[in-house]
Formats: sequence, structure tokens, C-alpha cells
Amino acid sequence: MTYRALLLTDTPEFSAQVTELDTLPEGDVELHIDYATLNYKDALAITNKSPIVRTWPMVAGIDAAGVVAHSTHAAFQPGDAVVLNGWGLSETRWGGLAQRTRAPGDWLVKLPARSSRSPGRPKNDLAPSGGGSDVFSEPGAQMSPRDAAAIGTAGYTAALCVQALERHGLTPADGPILVTGATGGVGSIAVALLARAGFEVHALTGKAADHAYLKSLGAAEVLDRADFAAPGKPMQKERFAGVVDVLGSQVLVNACAQVKRNGAVAACGLAMGMDFPASVAPFILRGISLYGIDSVYASLARRQAAWTLLAERLTSADLAGIAHEIALSETLPAAEKMLAGQMTGRFVVDVNR
Ligand SMILES: NC(=O)c1ccc[n+]([C@@H]2O[C@H](COP(=O)([O-])OP(=O)(O)OC[C@H]3O[C@@H](n4cnc5c(N)ncnc54)[C@H](OP(=O)(O)O)[C@@H]3O)[C@@H](O)[C@H]2O)c1
Repeated sequence: MTYRALLLTDTPEFSAQVTELDTLPEGDVELHIDYATLNYKDALAITNKSPIVRTWPMVAGIDAAGVVAHSTHAAFQPGDAVVLNGWGLSETRWGGLAQRTRAPGDWLVKLPARSSRSPGRPKNDLAPSGGGSDVFSEPGAQMSPRDAAAIGTAGYTAALCVQALERHGLTPADGPILVTGATGGVGSIAVALLARAGFEVHALTGKAADHAYLKSLGAAEVLDRADFAAPGKPMQKERFAGVVDVLGSQVLVNACAQVKRNGAVAACGLAMGMDFPASVAPFILRGISLYGIDSVYASLARRQAAWTLLAERLTSADLAGIAHEIALSETLPAAEKMLAGQMTGRFVVDVNR
């Protein structure tokens, strides 16, 4: 059976096109995908702005959410609603911007059940009945594939960042948490997750028009990115108990310089730059810690814990405010918008239209 996918090819020159395919990657679980997402890394890959793809041709997309169609893996049955993130998707493995895929079952996370209420009918007409849903799941219901896609790698990475800070021992009593790139995918969900846990969140953004959006997610304060963009003193006034950083470069340096004694920074991104022109002073004189966050090869246990946290702390109403749905054919212009830093929230891709 053929299926549609966003295929990236490099001969005779780079192209990104929605194409019919009839082969699937290897794996003991076959998925019928309902929704995928557009992450920053996807935008880089499908515009060929960065060497993300390592084997060609490649199906784009680092996320997929849908239902199991066939399985020879003991943990999965047809109809199970699952999410797949990372593991080299769109780099060395065909990814999720497609109607179907196959993957090793050991990579899949079953969508967390918020209650025993049975999930609705799957959106994908190819899928067997009994799993998934084409709507945002309600509080108390199992997380739907659409909710999982609204979260996607960006949201799951935000959860890994928040869990790193909480494992460090930070609590709301320790003081405010700074979230950089706050209107983006990782940032938006980090703001919401931290606010739901009672943290005072200070959201850093370059978008003056989005202050109300950030407040609606739970930010207590909205700060101007420009105030963190220029080189500053290695140790500055202690303001934040912790930081979730998606930007890297000078913003990460200034954020570290403003972390309180024994505080912690979770760094996951490079939207501003890969450089880190920092001083060791805050690390050795204030005892702050810097945690690097890698979502791609995180262990299954870490993934399951992150998705459970997301199910506990985010409602469908939160996600409805963050996610913007597009069709598979709309991913290219959306990617350009994302790389231009004009995106607020997350793009959810309906791969079946
Ligand atoms: N380590 C991992 O496993 C992992 C996983 C997921 C994502 N990431 C990385 O995390 C970063 C954010 O991903 P995302 O999905 O949240 O991306 P996104 O939705 O595009 O958000 C990034 C945000 O950063 C700010 N920004 C964008 N371009 C900028 C620039 N040139 N200079 C300064 N600020 C800029 C903007 O926020 P404001 O306008 O609000 O400032 C933008 O909304 C990316 O670098 C991505 O590769 C890493």
C-alpha cells in the first residue's frame, strides 16, 4: 500500500516534496501516523539550512504520533496510541512527516493514560479501530496523538529540562526560573510546565507582541531578550534559581551569570548560536550546575517519565493555545517562518491532509 510522505532528496540537487512511497523502514512495530510536528530541527532539515540529514533520500520529521497497526513486539498491540521521538529520525532513519512508518518497539512510548476512559476512534482511516483520537484529549482522558504531537520533541525536551532542574532539587521556594526563547516550542511548554508546578517563571522573549501569550501560559514576568544579548560581567546580580535555555551563545552566558548560588541551568538549544563564550566564575564561585539535555538518545525510562509529567501537568486547553495545525503540504513555508524566528507556539502537522 502506498502512503504520502515529505521526502528530502539530494540528487540532482536538494528538494523537499510530498511524495507517494511504497516501502517502510525496518522495525517490529508498524504505525499509522495521525500527526507529526514541525520542530526547529525539522525546519533546518527541510530547508536544507543545516546538515541534519545524513542518509538520502530521507523522510523528514523527528516526531510521529499515531496508533499501532501491526506489532510483533510483546509490549504493543494494534490500536495502542504511541509517540515516537528522536532516535535518529530524519537523520539516519526515515521520519514522521508521513502517513505510515515502522520502528523498533523499544523506541516507542505509549501515550500516558490520564484516566481509564477509553480513547476515541483513530483519525487515520488506515488504522484499526480502538486507539488514538483526532481531537485534543480532555483532562482525565488518555493523551491523544494530537496532544502528543502538539507537545512533540520540543515539549518532551522541555519536560527533560524541567526534570533536570527538579532532580537538582529546585523547588518554587528557591526563586524564579528563567525560560529563554519563551515563545518557541520548547520555551512555551517549559513555561507552562514550570508554572503548573508553582514556579515563578520569568519568560525571555524577543517578541514584544507576545507578552499576553506568555502570561496566559503562566509566566509571572516577561523579560526582553535584548537585555541578555550583549556581553556582560562574568558574575552579575543573582536573580534566578534556575534556567531553561534554548538559545545558547551570549544569552546562555548572561543567564548563567545571573543564577543564584547552587542553582542550575538546563541547556538544550542553539537557536541564537552554538558558541558559549562564558567564564567559569559562576560555576566555581557560586557552585552553579549546567545540565546538557539530549532528547534524541534519552533512555526509554527518561522518556516515559517525561511523557508522564507532560500528561500530569498539561491540559488539552493548554495545548490548544500553543498548537497551530497545518497540512503536510504546508510544512515548507511554515519551516521558513520558524527559522525566521516568527513562530509563536508549535506547528502540528496533520499528515493525512
Ligand atoms: N537538545 C535537544 O534534544 C533539543 C530538542 C529540541 C529542541 N532543541 C533545540 O532547542 C532550540 C529551540 O527549539 P524550538 O523547537 O523551541 O524552536 P522554536 O520553536 O523555533 O523556538 C525558538 C525560539 O528562540 C527564539 N529565537 C529564534 N531565533 C533566534 C535567534 N536567531 N536569536 C535569538 N533568539 C531566537 C524565539 O523565541 P523568542 O522570540 O520568544 O525569544 C523562538 O521562538 C533549537 O535550537 C533546537 O534545535 C534541542
